[in-house]
Amino acid sequence: MRKNIALLLILFPVCGHLLDFAYYTDSYKRNWASAQAFCRKHHTDLVHIRNAKESAVFQGFGWIGLYREDASSPWKWSRGGEIAIFTMWDHNEPDQYGNCVYTNSGKWGNKDCNDNHSFLCYDKKPILVKENKTWEEALDHCRSLDAMDTDDPASLYWKHRYDLATLITPDDHTAARKSTQEATTDEVWTGLCNLAGQWLWVGGEQMQYEDLPNCPIDGFCGVLEKNGTEPFGIRDCQQKRNFLCYKRP
Ligand SMILES: *[C@@H]1O[C@H](CO)[C@@H](O)[C@H](O)[C@H]1NC(C)=O
Ligand SMILES: *[C@@H]1O[C@H](CO)[C@@H](O)[C@H](O)[C@H]1NC(C)=O
Ligand SMILES: *[C@@H]1O[C@H](CO)[C@@H](O)[C@H](O)[C@H]1NC(C)=O
Repeated sequence: MRKNIALLLILFPVCGHLLDFAYYTDSYKRNWASAQAFCRKHHTDLVHIRNAKESAVFQGFGWIGLYREDASSPWKWSRGGEIAIFTMWDHNEPDQYGNCVYTNSGKWGNKDCNDNHSFLCYDKKPILVKENKTWEEALDHCRSLDAMDTDDPASLYWKHRYDLATLITPDDHTAARKSTQEATTDEVWTGLCNLAGQWLWVGGEQMQYEDLPNCPIDGFCGVLEKNGTEPFGIRDCQQKRNFLCYKRP
């Protein structure tokens, strides 16, 4: 069984960071929805390709994370449901047949979602920063990572690519807890903060936890505990500790 597994890990550096891809083929071939479920279970999601540089990295063939609900819907990415801006359609693609997208050496085409194909997953791992900072200093640090335009006078880190980590799914938590084991503090800051009595993820994602204790007062932020079992803890934002940044979806 093991012998049939064809899994290729591709590591490529993006401004000093590594994006991890995993390619599944041969006995792993499956339909788009099942490939998506597999990637979400074992990695982050089916791959999300945002630009020509990322597209150039993967020259094999298989499902990617792009799909549409039906022939009259927009093309969206599996991760976050974002409408696709960058595309690499092949000649005469897409056509009206098929709502799931397949890449063939970097050129995309739509196919029947029920067909079984190889597929490509990616891992979005949080980055642990082993410096002791207040929540706000930590936020600045994350947003300055690989920032696209820090010269824009209108906003400090306009179009920032990184943020303090948003941890939504159980898989996000598992990956974050793993990274946190290397921290020099027992707890690390995450992107959870309390703004005017409302808990929110600073990265913009919707609050997922219904069981949060009633918000205390302003000035409290969320941590992930190295050894804890709770999804988060609540601390004074002025305390200094290590923190987790993540690349925004
Ligand atoms: C895809 O693979 C599954 C499981 O092996 C099989 O049941 C199914 O018929 C295949 N689908 C197609 C369209 O070949
Ligand atoms: C951060 O704080 C921890 C715990 O107080 C300490 O062990 C560690 O050396 C500090 N790290 C830095 C870079 O100052
Ligand atoms: C966390 O777990 C490690 C290893 O099990 C242990 O050495 C450490 O003291 C624990 N820290 C806290 C704050 O419980």
